[in-house]
Amino acid sequence: MKVDGKDMRPIWYDDALKTVQVIDQRFLPHEMVVMDLNTVDETIYAIKEMVVRGAPLIGATGAMGVYVSLVQPGNKKADNDYFITECNRLKDARPTAMNLVWGVDRVMKAVLVHDDYEMRVSAALKQALEVVEEEAVNCRKIGEYGMPLIEAVSKKKNGEPVNILTHCNAGWLACVEYGTATAPVYTAFDNGINVHVWVDETRPLNQGSRLTAWELGKHGVDHTVITDNAGGHIMQHGMVDLVIVGTDRTTRAGDVANKIGTYLKALAAKDNQIPFYVALPSSTFDWDITDGIADIPIEERDPDEIRYIQGRCNGKIEQVLVPPSDSRAANHAFDVTPSRLVTGFITERGICKAAEADIMALFPDKKRDK
Ligand code: MRU
Repeated sequence: MKVDGKDMRPIWYDDALKTVQVIDQRFLPHEMVVMDLNTVDETIYAIKEMVVRGAPLIGATGAMGVYVSLVQPGNKKADNDYFITECNRLKDARPTAMNLVWGVDRVMKAVLVHDDYEMRVSAALKQALEVVEEEAVNCRKIGEYGMPLIEAVSKKKNGEPVNILTHCNAGWLACVEYGTATAPVYTAFDNGINVHVWVDETRPLNQGSRLTAWELGKHGVDHTVITDNAGGHIMQHGMVDLVIVGTDRTTRAGDVANKIGTYLKALAAKDNQIPFYVALPSSTFDWDITDGIADIPIEERDPDEIRYIQGRCNGKIEQVLVPPSDSRAANHAFDVTPSRLVTGFITERGICKAAEADIMALFPDKKRDK
């Protein structure tokens, strides 16, 4: 996507430097900082500390991390024990996003068919770059399949702005290109449809107000940042036409894990008869589980992310303490929205209902007996 006229992605391989590089999202929207990933430790740090974040990008970074494990200083060439241990460390960096395991496994598989070290290195880089490109294409297709939903509302409203509410950042920063939830918005906007996005700020780390607002603004999309608690109110007052969110892991039966607070938005949307769509590439489905509440691992993060808030003050990025210094805080990073609250999924293969039979009809290759 373009940032101030320049093509940007959140991850890339610099051919001249022979280095994997990422945008350090912790500093956005105030500073553009780039980080090199030269070791598995640096890659794990980047994923854990949310230098990179968002399910498809975590998957792409994990995929690149497998390549990094083979070329990092001190690598043990074609030693399988070393390689598998490094890959498992990458997979454990964050627990909820399915894409991480998916991305690492895919590159591991491509590596392990070779015995020769040099062939392993080139297979890893080729496969990791394929993961990155494929996720970009998947998100473009999500945009193409999702746009008619927005277009239909636009026609009904005679061209008045279509108000879309989104939670967290499920934009290109989370996904290589286009985003998941934002892909239909960008496609609609690029096709001249009048859209306006309600951006949930998404406490504690404010992925909405820091990242989604920045992305939308750079693309020229009209948007308004709201508190996480405002959604119910604006839905009751007819100010939301459509909710579109992303997901970190979705079960084969359609239960959706996404950033904490998503479930409450789905409840409010249901109560107000507002369509609630989830946009995802197939790499985010966990084909092995059906019950999201029982089986999706929910990350709990450092309580200091709740206790401190970050922003720019007098030109410097600062963190300030909000609650009493001796109050405990709990930081559940995701929640699960049951499939009954989801109107449908927007995927790279099209749109389907949030029910196992409908998901499987779109992805017959993922049937259990295969
Ligand atoms: O903790 P984060 O910022 O990695 O959480 C990201 C989200 O919850 C996104 O909504 C999700 O990954 C979908 S991304 C396209």
